[in-house]
Amino acid sequence: MRKLAAGNWKMNGTLAALEEIRALLADHPAPGCDMLICPPATLLAPMAALTAGSALALGGQDCHARASGAHTGDLSAAMLRDAGAAYVILGHSERRADHGESDADVQAKTLAAWQAGLIAVVCIGETEAERDAGKALEIVGQQLAGSLPEGATAANTVLAYEPVWAIGTGRTPTAGQIGEMHGFMRQSLTARFGATAQEMALLYGGSVKPSNAAPIFAIADVDGALVGGASLKAADFGAIVAAL
Ligand code: G3P
Repeated sequence: MRKLAAGNWKMNGTLAALEEIRALLADHPAPGCDMLICPPATLLAPMAALTAGSALALGGQDCHARASGAHTGDLSAAMLRDAGAAYVILGHSERRADHGESDADVQAKTLAAWQAGLIAVVCIGETEAERDAGKALEIVGQQLAGSLPEGATAANTVLAYEPVWAIGTGRTPTAGQIGEMHGFMRQSLTARFGATAQEMALLYGGSVKPSNAAPIFAIADVDGALVGGASLKAADFGAIVAAL
């Protein structure tokens, strides 16, 4: 399986940040893994113009479940695709928390993404309280079951395990905790979707940086990373790409 280094720029970046993309591509024109940046939607089209024909794929950070209509401020999956996206992040914990998105919402958005020809990067992960209560596997199992529609394959879906307590905190789970969760995800996905789940990319996300990327990538069933803060700078994201 080709590994995937994905960057989630969240609500960061203006046109000036295109310099980071120029630098990233200059340093990593032919990386040994797939490389994805999900900028704010305002940067998709200019970034697509800059990266056409390059090794860098682009993605959105959310989409609406409907194809069009009276939804002020929202974007459809087809609009993201039209602006140059090949992927879309769905169900990030910040959207679940800030916008009240449920597993059912994420499932509907995933279907919309597939219909527009986008690869869905579906995010799941437990809070600190849930882990402390010994419920991490149960919660992630529920999120996996509820957020993915029938028909998920290695070609249309990527999973990102992002424990909420590790996002932007500098804290990361132990290798044992990551390995246990990724093994559990692979098993659950295989039970539901069959052999294609063996090829689905399972990303880890939460305070990944150049200094901890290599040991995280050495963990079984970790097929890449979804990187927040460290994806904003070409040098940091490039070092993570090189570690994969
Ligand atoms: O989606 C990426 C993410 O939530 C992790 O963010 O800043 O901890 O790498 P960060």
